[in-house]
Amino acid sequence: MLQRTWFIFVWAISISLTCSGVSFAKPGYVGGSSCGGCHRIAMVSWEMTAHAKAFESLKPGVKKQEKLKGNLDPNKDYTNDKSCLKCHTTGYQEAGGFKDAVSTSEMAGVGCESCHGAGSEYKVLHEKKKVTFTREEAKAAGALYSSEDPAICNSCHLGKDSTFTEKIDKKYKFDRRKALDDRKAIHKKESTKDAFKVKMF
Ligand code: HEC
Ligand code: HEC
Ligand code: HEC
Ligand code: HEC
Repeated sequence: MLQRTWFIFVWAISISLTCSGVSFAKPGYVGGSSCGGCHRIAMVSWEMTAHAKAFESLKPGVKKQEKLKGNLDPNKDYTNDKSCLKCHTTGYQEAGGFKDAVSTSEMAGVGCESCHGAGSEYKVLHEKKKVTFTREEAKAAGALYSSEDPAICNSCHLGKDSTFTEKIDKKYKFDRRKALDDRKAIHKKESTKDAFKVKMF
């Protein structure tokens, strides 16, 4: 009898684990074009930023002077170099993220989801609840807020293996507060109204 109760107990636990596994599926990367339809202003101004062009910097002949200064080979092709890709692409080696420049070209460069988190779940929340979702709900669906959480920018900018840090030139010193308002790096702010002007709901 005791054994049977135990069996049912274990069975119930495993069922509940399976179910919660489904409802809290780890979000995957979806690519910026599935954000851009609703967030035009962010999208268009992001395209002008250094982040959007971060993959270009890995190509041979690009940023030659900078590479020389950083002890990198200006004629080498770094676009397949594993030691560069985690910071110069979106979601490297994660579900839906960057694998190579041919099969996942949209994930080349530092895209929306590098700062906002893998979007498969919170994108559905945005679509369903429009302006009514809360930050807590969005976070539960995998959304990240880099202005609140320094670790997001810092994971690339203060990474031990980044070449271009203040060690090679003071201009690379990372001041996150200032950087958050740097139009060379961060897209323009959208107001809620702007987001709606271009809605396809
Ligand atoms: C179907 C339209 C739609 C899609 C697709 C969509 N969003 Fe949103 N998003 C909204 C709406 C509506 C809001 C709420 C109004 C606002 O803050 O602009 C919002 C808000 C946001 C916010 C502000 C969140 C907050 O809590 O203040 C961010 C950041 C954001 N979206 C990023 C993204 C990213 C990144 C993607 C792609 C992975 C995406 N959105 C996909 C419609 C969408
Ligand atoms: C996935 C890695 C990654 C994340 C996350 C990231 N960055 Fe960057 N950032 C880069 C790379 C790579 C470059 C260099 C792009 C290039 O020129 O190749 C860069 C460049 C910049 C620059 C320099 C722009 C210029 O040309 O002067 C600033 C400022 C910056 N980022 C700020 C931020 C801030 C603020 C955050 C967080 C909101 C952030 N970054 C998040 C990787 C990242
Ligand atoms: C830990 C994250 C990280 C790794 C790994 C990384 N980078 Fe970067 N890289 C950055 C960041 C952050 C910047 C922006 C620095 C700034 O402007 O403040 C950057 C900037 C650059 C730049 C532009 C410098 C300029 O002045 O415009 C080049 C070129 C570059 N990286 C090449 C590479 C190459 C090649 C590799 C691999 C050998 C690599 N990076 C690995 C984070 C990284
Ligand atoms: C380098 C980091 C970075 C990248 C890349 C990035 N964002 Fe943002 N975004 C931010 C920060 C920081 C905020 C301020 C709110 C927060 O803390 O997340 C923000 C805010 C937003 C908001 C809220 C409204 C506003 O403007 O304040 C939307 C919508 C948004 N981003 C959409 C996008 C979309 C779409 C993309 C890709 C085309 C994108 N973002 C790429 C850093 C980034």
